[in-house]
Amino acid sequence: MATQATVPAPRPAVKKRRAPWWAEPAATVVALTAFGLYSLWEVLFHSTGTYQNYVSPFFSPNVAAWGVHFVPALWVIWAPLLFRASCYYYRKEYYRGFFGDPSACARPERPGRTYTGETRLPLALNNLHRFFFYIAVIVVLFLWKDAIEAFFFPTGFGIGLGSLIMLGNVILLSFYTFSCHAFRHLIGGNLDCFTCNLRPRTRYGLWRAVTDWNMRHGQWAWISMFTVWGTDLYIRLLISGVLHDPRIIF
Ligand code: FES
Repeated sequence: MATQATVPAPRPAVKKRRAPWWAEPAATVVALTAFGLYSLWEVLFHSTGTYQNYVSPFFSPNVAAWGVHFVPALWVIWAPLLFRASCYYYRKEYYRGFFGDPSACARPERPGRTYTGETRLPLALNNLHRFFFYIAVIVVLFLWKDAIEAFFFPTGFGIGLGSLIMLGNVILLSFYTFSCHAFRHLIGGNLDCFTCNLRPRTRYGLWRAVTDWNMRHGQWAWISMFTVWGTDLYIRLLISGVLHDPRIIF
């Protein structure tokens, strides 16, 4: 007896649920406001961010060790702050979240607002982002130094929870910093030919790697902001005696 092929019934179309347009700007406002308030509290009300060989990213480089004792974090925090504030990704987020200018794709401007881009002060300062990138690279180098020193305790070499947190933080911060649009241009821009000789070929290879990281720049931006926050909070809780750092000394 001939069997008849059965055709599977078509599946009902799954409707993709989309978050409302205001969810992202609202989340941005909450996250950046909370981080901003925490940063102010940390910078203005604490004179040190150091616990044994751990240094908080808010206090790195450790200018207090160089004799600067007047609000030491203030001498440090301006560089990463300007770097983040002028970041192309954060600009999109806070223009939408805080200024509603406009609030999302395909949303009209609020009545009476005329977007002038970054052609006037103070937003024109965002065009200096490339220079803030150079300074941010120096800050990241200090954070790598801190992360390495976080494995060298007063009693010898070891691994503490704080060492791992600091290492994870600087790795994620490096992804954020080196996925920057300005760095991508620095690596692969101003080239007429990618394959003419070894130098442009090498730059092309690097440019492709940076482009891969750059595609997730927004994710690195958020993740690294939270790891900076978490790292600082962990060290603050160690300083205040609320937490004890589990560690193995070899
Ligand atoms: S574009 Fe975001 S850090 Fe440069």
